[in-house]
Amino acid sequence: MIPSPADVFRALIPPNRREPVQASAAAFAPANIALVKYWGKRDERLNLPVTSSLSVSLGKLGSDVRLCGRQGRDVVTLNGKPLPDDSSFVRRVSSYLDFCRPAAGWGFEVTARNTIPTAAGFASSASGFAALVRALDGLFGWHLDGRALSILARLGSGSASRSIFEGLVEWHAGCAADGMDSYAEPLGVEWADLRMALIVLSRAEKGIGSRAAMQRTVETSPLYAAWPATVHRDMAEMKSALQERDFTRTGAVAERNALAMHATMLAASPPVLYWQPESVRVMQKVWALRAEGVPVYFTMDAGPNVKVLYLADTEPAVREGLADWEFVKPNA
Ligand code: PMV
Repeated sequence: MIPSPADVFRALIPPNRREPVQASAAAFAPANIALVKYWGKRDERLNLPVTSSLSVSLGKLGSDVRLCGRQGRDVVTLNGKPLPDDSSFVRRVSSYLDFCRPAAGWGFEVTARNTIPTAAGFASSASGFAALVRALDGLFGWHLDGRALSILARLGSGSASRSIFEGLVEWHAGCAADGMDSYAEPLGVEWADLRMALIVLSRAEKGIGSRAAMQRTVETSPLYAAWPATVHRDMAEMKSALQERDFTRTGAVAERNALAMHATMLAASPPVLYWQPESVRVMQKVWALRAEGVPVYFTMDAGPNVKVLYLADTEPAVREGLADWEFVKPNA
């Protein structure tokens, strides 16, 4: 029988750790941007991916979550605003918290603060669920290792499995039905000069969420059949480029992988298009800068904003070239 998310929690959490060991707990997790994307699930309930993926974390940009127990229903506050009980965000968080309530009638007070624009394709659900899992680990004194935390974070949002770690991170697709081999871990490559910046075009919430868009792409896009082999090739080349600190190859693979993912979505029925005219302007500007000799590449996720990849010593040229747009730089 295929296990449920509740079975996975039961398997990973020590049986004597079902009660809080402290009054409250807080944790931070960084957002992450994939250089080789995750797009498509082999299991919807456990968020098991069709392919492996690889990301870079965004340093101080991410989510802070504070957690404590309370009598009754859950109360969720996001960026200083209490959210209505029937909001989709509260329902999503509450159904996740159902896996670890010590008793019926036991609620949580969750205070979350994102330092990254929420739901605009900046992966706030990834850092949010990773921070939530870390806060739960502290509240209940689970003392889980990175692999177990990554598996639990994945149950909240697939890409959250990568937000458990800093730096360059690989999420192994795994093949087990229970997903115990589908977790992220640090790639083991340090690249201090690698930079990722966010070009903010829209803070508006995106039209279609990644979950529904992924499902539609897998079910209806004739191009999806080519995606697993594309990722397989891009993962191998990306890892070798990162190990050699070869920026040109790293950027080229990241850019082509993102465009291939968006191509699979465009061919879905109905089509999924996250780009705005301004997104295309930024992409064309990045290409123009490259033609002028500035080594800069882009990637894009499930939203209109563009992320750019460059090396520390070319930052002045990249900033100047993209001066028409808001440039959010997360790391040093
Ligand atoms: O984890 P989700 O459901 O938010 O999906 C993330 C999908 C992308 O951001 C587009 C790609 C990725 O690998 O992060």
